[in-house]
Amino acid sequence: MKIFHPNRLILTIAMIISSQLAATEAIAQPAAEPEEPLVLRKIMQDMGRNMQQIADGISREDWQLVEKNALLVADHPQPPLSEKVRIMAYFNTDMSKFKSHDKKTHDTARLLSQSAADRDGFAVISDFASLQQSCLSCHQRFRKPFQQHFYGKN
Ligand code: HEC
Repeated sequence: MKIFHPNRLILTIAMIISSQLAATEAIAQPAAEPEEPLVLRKIMQDMGRNMQQIADGISREDWQLVEKNALLVADHPQPPLSEKVRIMAYFNTDMSKFKSHDKKTHDTARLLSQSAADRDGFAVISDFASLQQSCLSCHQRFRKPFQQHFYGKN
């Protein structure tokens, strides 16, 4: 009986090496620190609240509330430069696509603020739907991989 069949031997050696590698990696890379959320997340949360205010304003026909919050969405703050650099490095050639989604949100929020200033309820509702679509388009395209990259999870 062959104890060390050549294939078995190779397999065993491979297993030993890979388990050694895994052990070395575990030492070399201690469990990653939980990442600080990006400033972008805070900006997004604020926009989420602005959208709730807009929905509330529509129900009350409080067009001023709608206009104010639409302008806050349109002119939402930008992350600090250091974070922008990280985001740009991550997106690389997709950056222009990411930016065009952002511009779409900005432009649609402006339209919405104008419809609210005109007190045109039906236009407000239709612009609001377009605005939500602009948020969703970017989220569907970019959010998951973005979070995987920056936080290592979904
Ligand atoms: C250009 C792309 C883009 C657009 C446009 C966009 N978002 Fe986001 N949004 C993101 C990304 C990327 C994240 C993930 C950020 C993170 O987790 O750090 C996110 C996350 C969020 C979150 C979750 C925050 C949390 O606590 O996890 C909310 C709420 C949100 N966005 C609201 C909005 C609203 C409302 C709009 C439209 C008015 C909008 N976003 C438009 C890219 C976008």
